[in-house]
Amino acid sequence: MQTPDGLPAEIDLSRPSAARVYDYFLGGAHNFEIDRQLAEQIAAMTPNLAATMRSGREFLRRAVRALLDAGIDQFLDIGSGIPTVGNVHEVAQAANPEARVVYVDIDPVAVAHSRELLAGNDRATAIHADLREPKLILDQARASGLIDFDRPLGILLAGVVHFIPDADRPGDILATLRAAAAPGSYLVISHSTFEDQPQEMLDAQKLSARTATEITLRSRAEISSFFGDWTILEPGVVHMPLWRPDSPSDVDEHPERFGAFGGVARYDEPAG
Ligand SMILES: C[S@@+](CC[C@H](N)C(=O)[O-])C[C@H]1O[C@@H](n2cnc3c(N)ncnc32)[C@H](O)[C@@H]1O
Repeated sequence: MQTPDGLPAEIDLSRPSAARVYDYFLGGAHNFEIDRQLAEQIAAMTPNLAATMRSGREFLRRAVRALLDAGIDQFLDIGSGIPTVGNVHEVAQAANPEARVVYVDIDPVAVAHSRELLAGNDRATAIHADLREPKLILDQARASGLIDFDRPLGILLAGVVHFIPDADRPGDILATLRAAAAPGSYLVISHSTFEDQPQEMLDAQKLSARTATEITLRSRAEISSFFGDWTILEPGVVHMPLWRPDSPSDVDEHPERFGAFGGVARYDEPAG
């Protein structure tokens, strides 16, 4: 069923959505008054936030390019959000027209807009699913016919694992995803942290409780543990702007102000 403006009827317009708030911060057009109000409230408390989100998108783009350089041609992007300029499939298919991308998001608005944008692209699709049910995600990705789990793939978890509270066992979720990947696969994670953060950042976290999902800030050690025994690539799990910047001049004087760590790991075949 569709609403008069063409959006799926299951979309709840009475509550702000994390994906639409994020879209607003990135300068996108897929958001509603209720999202903009919350975004403005958060922005007033944390003037850095829009820059933080753009910094997250930039980290993801650099990581996807690194994976493409390593020969990865299939991507499972979980918590992909609402498509704005510089999507994973654009970056990937510009480098390799054969690259395949499966986007996954819990927000029906994000999925509806993704599908609209991907119409006519037979090497990319969007799935409506919850990271807390990784087996369903893997089944649907397999069923899409776009991901071959017998070959190396890139699993992208940019700005999404912090939506999983400890009670939902994020470590187990990550282990399930890693177990499905062939040797030579890569895992990209960016995740909000409380380390090196001022009080304003910690206050913004409380506001996030008003979106459908609350944010759990974690330490560098906890975030690193999500890579399991995969090999964490240089320069490690670092404040996002410090992860292989295109140019030293791109690095902010205070890279910690973006409030999130980013890292990339590779599944190296166990010896013996
Ligand atoms: C901050 S955005 C990140 C977007 C994109 N990955 C990027 O880095 O530019 C987080 C996205 O995660 C989605 N999300 C939150 N909880 C989720 C869950 N349990 N399963 C799947 N997606 C989720 C939200 O709907 C939102 O679109």
